[in-house]
Amino acid sequence: MNKKVYIETYGCQMNVNDSEVVLSILQGVGYERTTDMGEADLILANTCSIRENAEQRVHGRIDVFRLEKKKRPGVIIGILGCMAERLKDKLLEGRIVDLVAGPDAYRSLPAMVAAVTPGNPQIEVQLSRTETYDDITPVRMDHNGLSAYISIMRGCNNCCSYCVVPYTRGAERSRDPYTIVAEARDVFSKGYKEVSLLGQNVDSYLWKAPEDCPEHAGESVSFAQLLEMVALISPELRVRFSTSYPSDITDEVLFTMAKYENVCNHIHFPVQSGSDVMLEKMRRKYTRQWYLDRVARIREIVPDCGLTTDVIAGFCGESEQDHQDTLSLFELVKFDAAFMFAYSERPGTLASKKYEDDIPQDVKTRRLNEIIELQGRMGFIRYKEQIGKTLKVLVEGPSKKTPDELCGRAGNYMMCVWPDKTHKVGDYVEVTVIDATPATLICKLA
Ligand code: 5AD
Ligand code: SF4
Repeated sequence: MNKKVYIETYGCQMNVNDSEVVLSILQGVGYERTTDMGEADLILANTCSIRENAEQRVHGRIDVFRLEKKKRPGVIIGILGCMAERLKDKLLEGRIVDLVAGPDAYRSLPAMVAAVTPGNPQIEVQLSRTETYDDITPVRMDHNGLSAYISIMRGCNNCCSYCVVPYTRGAERSRDPYTIVAEARDVFSKGYKEVSLLGQNVDSYLWKAPEDCPEHAGESVSFAQLLEMVALISPELRVRFSTSYPSDITDEVLFTMAKYENVCNHIHFPVQSGSDVMLEKMRRKYTRQWYLDRVARIREIVPDCGLTTDVIAGFCGESEQDHQDTLSLFELVKFDAAFMFAYSERPGTLASKKYEDDIPQDVKTRRLNEIIELQGRMGFIRYKEQIGKTLKVLVEGPSKKTPDELCGRAGNYMMCVWPDKTHKVGDYVEVTVIDATPATLICKLA
C-alpha cells in the first residue's frame, strides 16, 4: 500500500506551487496525498516567514503535529519552505521535528525521509543559485482543474529593507522558457483554462540560453517575450502573472497585454508606501511620482486594467505626514483591491539592523485601519464604475451565496455572479454588469 503524505501550505502562491512540486517528487517514491492528517505517514508544513504572525501560526500547527506524533510515533513531521533556515537551530536544540528542508532542497526529500530515524533528524537548508525544478511536473492542488500556477523564477535580487524573502529564498534565477511553455501546454491539454506565471519580480525575468545548448545558442528571453510565448499557446488559455515591480515593468509588457486578449488585464502592483521618505528607507527603487506615472501609463496602454497593490503601515520612522501620503496615493490611484499590512520586523533584514521598529502597535493598527477604510471606499467606486460594461468571465462554479447563480472572475480579476442554468465550470461567458457590491459584480448574461 502507498504511504500517505499530508501537507499544509502557508504564504504566497509560489509556496502553493512549491507544495505541488514537493507532492510530485514524493509521488515519484510512492507517496500518495491525503487531506486527513490522521492517516498520514508524513506530515509536512510548507511555511512562510513574511510577517511574524505567519510564523506564529506555523508554530501553533507544529504543536498540533507533535500531538499526532505522540499518538502515532511512526509519523514523520517535516518543515519546509521559508522558515526552514531559522527553524533549523530550534530543531537542533529541541528535537521538535524530524525533517527540515529549505525551498531549494526538495529534490533531497525522498532520501531525507528514508534516512529519518528516532533521534536522527534530517536537515537541508542550503540555497541554490541554479535550482528551478524545471523538469518537475507539479501535482496540481487546484480543486476545479481550472487554474494552474507556474513558477517562472525563484528567489529575489531586490533588497527591500523590510523583506525577508531574499534570505529565505535566495538569489533570483529564471527558469528555461521552453519548459514553462511545455508545462502550460500540458495543463491546457488537460482541460485547464488559466495559468498564472509566478515570480517575486516577474519583470526581471531574463533567461539566457546556456552556452552548451545548440538549439537556442545565443538566445535570451525577456518577460514580455515569455508572456507572448505563453499567450500564443491558445486564445482559450488565459494568462495571468504576478508580481510586477513598479520600476521594472516595461512598456513592452504592457503592449503584450494589450495585444493578446487572453493575457488578463490585471496587474498586481505593490506600492508599499505613498511617501518618498519611506520608499527610500524601504529601498524601493522608485518614487511616488514614478509610481503614479506608471499607473497612468498602464491605464493608457491597457484600458480598464485591473490594479491591485500591497501596502505596509507603520514602517520604521513613519510620520503622520508619510501616512497621509499613503492615504492620498490610495485616493489618487483607486486600486480595485489591496493587501494591507502593519509593519512586522523580520530578523536578519536590513531594516532590523539599521532602523528602530519605533511606531507603537496602536499607531500601526490605527493607520492600517485608516488605509483599510479608505481602500474599502475606493474599491467600491472602482466596482461601481464597471456597471453597464460587458465582461468576459471564466466560469468557476456555483456562487457561494446563491447556488443557482454562477460565479467567475473577469480578466481584471473582479468576481462576477449571474443567474445561469446553461453554462458550466470552465466555460467563457459574456456578462453585463448591472450592479456592484464592494467586492462582487452583479451581472446578467450579455
Ligand atoms: N512587514 C509587513 N509586511 C511585509 N511585507 C513584506 N515584508 C513585510 C514586513 N516585514 C508585505 C509587502 C509585500 C507583501 C507580500 O508582504 O507588502 O508586498
Ligand atoms: Fe512566499 Fe515570502 Fe512567505 Fe516565502 S516568506 S512563503 S516567499 S510570502
